[in-house]
Amino acid sequence: MTSPALDEFAPDTGAAGRGPVVGPGSPDSRGSLDLLDVFGDPFVHDPYPWLDRLRSKSPVHHDPVTGLWLVSRHREVRRVLLDPHLFLPDNAQVAVTPLPVAVLRVLARVGFTLPPALANNGTASHFGLRRVVTRFFNAQRVAEAVPVIERIADELLDEVRSQVDSAGGCDLFISFAQLLPCRVLMELLGIRGVDPATLIRWSDASLELFWGRPALDRQLELAELVVAFHQWLTTTVRSGAAPSDSFIGALARHRLPDGGVLDVETAVAACFFVFIAGQSTTGQLIATVLRRASAESGMWLRVADETGLAEAWVEEVLRREPPVTSWRRVTAQATELGGVPLPAGTQLLLMLMGSGSDPEVFPDPERMCPHRPNVRHHLAFGAGRHRCPGASLARTEAAVALRAAARILPDVQLAAEAGDRPMLRLLSFRAPLKVAVAQP
Ligand code: HEM
Repeated sequence: MTSPALDEFAPDTGAAGRGPVVGPGSPDSRGSLDLLDVFGDPFVHDPYPWLDRLRSKSPVHHDPVTGLWLVSRHREVRRVLLDPHLFLPDNAQVAVTPLPVAVLRVLARVGFTLPPALANNGTASHFGLRRVVTRFFNAQRVAEAVPVIERIADELLDEVRSQVDSAGGCDLFISFAQLLPCRVLMELLGIRGVDPATLIRWSDASLELFWGRPALDRQLELAELVVAFHQWLTTTVRSGAAPSDSFIGALARHRLPDGGVLDVETAVAACFFVFIAGQSTTGQLIATVLRRASAESGMWLRVADETGLAEAWVEEVLRREPPVTSWRRVTAQATELGGVPLPAGTQLLLMLMGSGSDPEVFPDPERMCPHRPNVRHHLAFGAGRHRCPGASLARTEAAVALRAAARILPDVQLAAEAGDRPMLRLLSFRAPLKVAVAQP
């Protein structure tokens, strides 16, 4: 294995692979964070100048658009994540765009509710419920899953290969990045009775409804999909027919701290979160990993053979351009953060992506250096009590995906595209929605 020197890779030229945006909407043009819109084009296409400005000028910054306080330096983000008593996870899944009555009515039709289960659970039941999840994704389970991941990756890429050979190109996001984690999750958790395309559609709709800024018409459409997802989960949990070695089977056997069984609503809420978190985020990571590797000179060819390079590349992408760009917490009582007094009930948005480019922790943060010594100090998976229990699976899937794609498609390159590249633009999720490759 060769270890490239820190300066072996060129500085990155904007998140979407374009030059940094310097225009009417960029902070460099007017020097003002007043123009910041976390859903807007300038931030979505090139968030780095904004994140740099936030960290250096206003590391705990009130955003009047969302009402959230943006926390962008590594040290404060880490402090918040590691103190679950003072900074509660209760707001983790609250809809960022308030749901109007018409939408609430659609959700109420099936009794939609998300009681505290995992990411939004600061109560005593969290520890045990989290253990149900970690049993499915511990190091041994992930090691055993590698042949499964490789088999599914090869199957999907054989199909991609045929498309490239017949049509000259293919979108790796739709045909590969999005499907691989969904099919892997379904095998590992024993999810039956739904096809991957439907699970992906339900999952994407849930992310957009709760983390997006959709207009009313779109909210109503999304709510119908979320309701279908919730209804399917409720029926499956209630039926008691899930195999005992499946995730739903494990939840049925789970006992709460008081010895009681889990109520259906909480079991459904746990599935709702895990079935989304376990595949959408990893699909987003794989899309970014593939796009960045194919845009980096020489990387695509090296990564297929060089031991450890795919893993190192994935880690550096997690630091610089993670799919979960931010996560929420709320203060339990009045406190101070980065010198800013905050009353009880203050809603915080931890800028995980900004913390990965903090020069106090990562020198030359704009450079992609897969072998930087402290690369794992990033906070892309959170930290502390709620740290992502799927981190090891996500890392492994992304590395397998990259290596397999580079091996099976050595002759493709990122296709030239006209106009902007479509990006997923949600409060906490950001990734390319298309990774078009073509034979030169
Ligand atoms: C690249 C992929 C992924 C990223 C970037 C990611 C990121 C995160 C983040 C930032 C959190 C919140 C951490 C905190 O509050 O401190 C989280 C929580 C969680 N993630 Fe992931 N995740 C990924 C993949 C997965 C996978 C594959 C699973 C599989 C089951 C998963 C399951 C969960 C669960 C259950 C929680 C809540 C944990 C708790 O509250 O105890 N995630 N993830």
